[in-house]
Amino acid sequence: MENSLRPKKVIIIKAKKMSSHEKLFRLVLEDKRKFPSNKEGLVFNPGQFVLAGLWGYGEAPFGLASSPLNKSYVEIGVRKVGNVSSALHRLQEGDEMTLRGPYGNGYPLDFFQGKDIVMVTGGCGIPPIAALIEYILAKRESFGRVYLLYGVQTPKDFLFKDRYQHWEKQIRVILTVDEPTPDWKGHVGLVSELTKEIEINPRNTVAGMCGPGPMTSALQNILRPLGIADRRIFVSEERKMSCGIGKCQHCTTGDKYVCTDGPVFYYDQVQGNWD
Ligand SMILES: Cc1cc2nc3c(=O)[nH]c(=O)nc-3n(C[C@H](O)[C@H](O)[C@H](O)COP(=O)(O)OP(=O)(O)OC[C@H]3O[C@@H](n4cnc5c(N)ncnc54)[C@H](O)[C@@H]3O)c2cc1C
Ligand code: FES
Repeated sequence: MENSLRPKKVIIIKAKKMSSHEKLFRLVLEDKRKFPSNKEGLVFNPGQFVLAGLWGYGEAPFGLASSPLNKSYVEIGVRKVGNVSSALHRLQEGDEMTLRGPYGNGYPLDFFQGKDIVMVTGGCGIPPIAALIEYILAKRESFGRVYLLYGVQTPKDFLFKDRYQHWEKQIRVILTVDEPTPDWKGHVGLVSELTKEIEINPRNTVAGMCGPGPMTSALQNILRPLGIADRRIFVSEERKMSCGIGKCQHCTTGDKYVCTDGPVFYYDQVQGNWD
């Protein structure tokens, strides 16, 4: 039986700068050169995460950002903030890192089927949402109206820019920035204000969110008045992690572990726990 704690060696087949602080890594298994669609490989749900690491530096959790239906590679988007992420940023195509996982629950895709979907994200919270979008696009006929509401500080901070044209063919992508540049033609202001742009049937709508605590907190005043029930709002939480499998208590949120009970929670399960 495979030991899920044992890191797998992976090769970087693409390392691409997405912004001044974020890099996208495309990864394949060292031995098989690909992730097959069986239990030996990295088969995952959007919203699940891996622990990516480098010998001598440690590991950190990152959401999987590629399509879960793509069995030949996986992608993670890494913001350079500290020890592990800075070490990963120094890696180039052809270099190795390690991966453990996938861990956590991911978004409840069966529940999302047949519904209008509102995805809300900010800053570098978008990687798991990107995986969710790729899944929805591949099964577009199974969903109703689909919106992505995405806010960042300045236009140069948007991640996955090269995917928007493709996404916009099948879902509505609405972007906003805090600080516009002279050439910016989109919205300015909080991502929560973008809900004015959407048309949904609240009783048949599901919201999937991943972003900074203040954004998630602000959205409660918007999504609830729209009529979306708390049990239809799914929030992805981030906490410092160590084991990834519910043993070390590094990742608690209230009385839950983010690594095993989450990272995706019902809104009312984690309300008020944001940093
Ligand atoms: C489920 C999940 C999914 C995630 N997905 C992504 C993703 O897709 N992309 C992404 O870029 N990030 C993601 N993150 C966040 C990422 O795991 C963290 O930013 C991680 O800490 C980076 O590791 P590091 O070693 O580089 O940073 P660290 O060295 O751990 O530092 C991270 C930050 O915490 C601060 N810090 C460090 N130690 C302490 C301390 N003891 N007390 C207070 N502050 C401290 C640092 O100043 C820095 O700002 C995710 C986290 C979780 C839990
Ligand atoms: S990371 Fe160890 S309990 Fe969650």
